[in-house]
Amino acid sequence: MILCANFKANKTRQETQAYMAVVESFVTANDISDTIMVFPPFTALEHLSRNVLIGVQNAYPVQNGAYTGEIALEQLEEFGIKSILIGHSERRHILGETQESVTAKFRFFAERGFVIIYCVGEPIAIREQGDDALMNYIDTQLVGIDTAYPDLIIAYEPVWAIGTGLTPTNDQIVAMHSALRAKTSAPLLYGGSVKVENAGEIMALENVDGVLVGSAALSASDFCTMVAQAAELNITTGE
Ligand code: PGA
Repeated sequence: MILCANFKANKTRQETQAYMAVVESFVTANDISDTIMVFPPFTALEHLSRNVLIGVQNAYPVQNGAYTGEIALEQLEEFGIKSILIGHSERRHILGETQESVTAKFRFFAERGFVIIYCVGEPIAIREQGDDALMNYIDTQLVGIDTAYPDLIIAYEPVWAIGTGLTPTNDQIVAMHSALRAKTSAPLLYGGSVKVENAGEIMALENVDGVLVGSAALSASDFCTMVAQAAELNITTGE
């Protein structure tokens, strides 16, 4: 399983350090073999992680340059960052990233061997139009993305489920993940209102290889509980 905590614009540097201490000790103490990743804000990247990967929520696809307000490869390299979230719905819908800009980021960071967590997901109006519209929409978010890239992880995150407390039914998650599985062998994460109460059940679904968690992962102890649920599933499935 792969479990990711996306902090968004939450937590200070000090809070992130305290959080990492809790999660890292938990991972060590429980001999966790799952992949655990944390995406803190840029200000809290400076952390020599031992057993938890640190990634960025965004970066500009250049080595360096005149891009006010952005950070680029040079700054990531200084912190040893090799993982990035691309195409998150908040960046698409709030920050106005187009499929073209998302694709440019994908290409740049794939060429540099980054682990890319590439996010797709539909707004509610699309889901209400039915299965064909839904899959066509997801397909438009995969345009220009090399779904055979070896360090690709895809996160299915319906826009209407992010930060709302709403989640698709298990059948809806399975249907989407099996449609994605037909297109790629990349690990498939589910994201959108994952919390302690539903994480175990979601991770047990077919073709779900992990979760991308926002608000519920802000609590280190809740995130550790979800990590424990994943470890429990490994035991029951014999992985
Ligand atoms: P949420 O966010 O868990 O708060 O719904 C998930 C995400 O945006 O990755």
